Amino acid sequence: MNAKPVSHSRTTLTELMIPSYANFGGRVHGGILLSLMDKVAYACAAKHAGQYCVTVSVDGVNFRQPVEVGELVSLMASVNYVGRTSLVVGIKVIAENVKIGSVKHTNTSYFTMVAKDDHEKPTEVPPLLLETSDDVRRFLEAMKRKELRASFAAYFDNAKTKMLLDESVDKLGNERCELADGLEL
Ligand SMILES: CC(C)(COP(=O)(O)OP(=O)(O)OC[C@H]1O[C@@H](n2cnc3c(N)ncnc32)[C@H](O)[C@@H]1OP(=O)(O)O)[C@@H](O)C(=O)NCCC(=O)NCCS
Repeated sequence: MNAKPVSHSRTTLTELMIPSYANFGGRVHGGILLSLMDKVAYACAAKHAGQYCVTVSVDGVNFRQPVEVGELVSLMASVNYVGRTSLVVGIKVIAENVKIGSVKHTNTSYFTMVAKDDHEKPTEVPPLLLETSDDVRRFLEAMKRKELRASFAAYFDNAKTKMLLDESVDKLGNERCELADGLEL
């Protein structure tokens, strides 16, 4: 399989934030942005893979600033990493107020997508051709996140199975919760 450059699948989606996207506070719903991120991740991953892709996991969704109705949101997506059948698409989201000329960076998130064949089985994706030092940095950063996620998952599974409620309940002392009267653990 020939490697494809990052530039082959780089995708930008720009959308106007219309009033029906607003929540009760008048700002744009986080779910609208998540849906747009999923769309652009799909477009980018499918272009690289040349196959239908599905979303497997999402990292780093922290909305730093609210997005207002009337702003133009642009989602810039590129393949950061490829495994055998999976790809990580990095997405930078910016919101622009064209009237006052302001641009804010709302978040950068990472979508892991898997390519599927006609029988819905994960299928191999082309290697990634790294053409710039940014391409190399993003690939290495994605490898690091994968490694950290794997060790965190192992630690968390272990912590969950090992945690005995009656031994751990003292830890709730400083938290903002109360145990109901008569609760038996
Ligand atoms: C993702 C899915 C294909 C994995 O199937 P599987 O039988 O576990 O396949 P594999 O173990 O071979 O994993 C396939 C790839 O997914 C990666 N993967 C699986 N789970 C993952 C996770 N939680 N996070 C990141 N990558 C993951 C594996 O590392 C592997 O990558 P690689 O081939 O590059 O090494 C399967 O769980 C699936 O179809 N899930 C539903 C996805 C979907 O429908 N999304 C839309 C939600 S509405």
